[in-house]
Amino acid sequence: MGGGECRTNDYGAAAYWDARYSSSSSSSGGGGGGVEFFEWYQTYEALRPLLRARLPTSSRVLMLGCGNSLLSEDMVKDGYEEVVNVDISSVVIEQMREKHVDIPQLTYFQMDARDMSYFGDETFDCVLDKGTLDAMMCGDDAPLGASKMLAEVARLLRPGGIYMLITYGTPKERLQLLYQAGFHRKIELYIMPTPGYQSKWSKNASLAQPIIQEVSLTEDGQLPPDCVLKDPESHFIYVCQKSDAANGTNSVVANEGETTASK
Ligand SMILES: C[S@@+](CC[C@H](N)C(=O)[O-])C[C@H]1O[C@@H](n2cnc3c(N)ncnc32)[C@H](O)[C@@H]1O
Repeated sequence: MGGGECRTNDYGAAAYWDARYSSSSSSSGGGGGGVEFFEWYQTYEALRPLLRARLPTSSRVLMLGCGNSLLSEDMVKDGYEEVVNVDISSVVIEQMREKHVDIPQLTYFQMDARDMSYFGDETFDCVLDKGTLDAMMCGDDAPLGASKMLAEVARLLRPGGIYMLITYGTPKERLQLLYQAGFHRKIELYIMPTPGYQSKWSKNASLAQPIIQEVSLTEDGQLPPDCVLKDPESHFIYVCQKSDAANGTNSVVANEGETTASK
């Protein structure tokens, strides 16, 4: 999936993820606490400038398909006050609950993102998704399952709240789904090279560039013709803002240039 495609339909199946997380639980990895971690796509450190710029630490955050990533834990270490984690795999939820039993800012629920009726409407300031929509787009029920999940995301966000999607999906592959879920008011797009490519840059000052680049979409929601991906495996970050009931419009707003996000 990291290479921009579904390597198996199993990415959409709970049984696949349960088996994967069961086999990783026996050995103690870099995650500490006896639970291995696997970080898809990008680390908190890399995403931090954008997260800190867009999400106050007081935000109530929903982490969709948390897996055993360090993202939620690192956010709390950096001051975030409440990160609610869901995943379809009961195995990983049990592991993470046990690992973080002493961190009240982190809670874990086994849940299918296509039906999160456990949570009330408009109860989150932000929904973070790193790789979960991508997994669902590999499932047997794609794209229907993905649409159901996005409808749930839209329901759970408060007006003006943010869905931040970190994905390998290009605008051509993702925008229609986002529009269907009602994220019309404002979608910003950022492009981020893979960690491997970033480390190459950092060793060669002449190639130095901002790590996260904001990109303008064309009127019909495509990448501009002059946008060349230096790293063809780059990840896309869609920052989608839910309409305020009183202020919904249908525009796509994005400006080109380096993000000024910092603390
Ligand atoms: C590609 S992994 C990403 C894990 C983590 N977000 C990260 O960045 O490392 C996708 C995650 O989505 C979970 N998942 C897949 N389908 C799901 C669904 N329908 N509902 C909730 N979680 C799901 C999987 O169990 C897996 O942990």
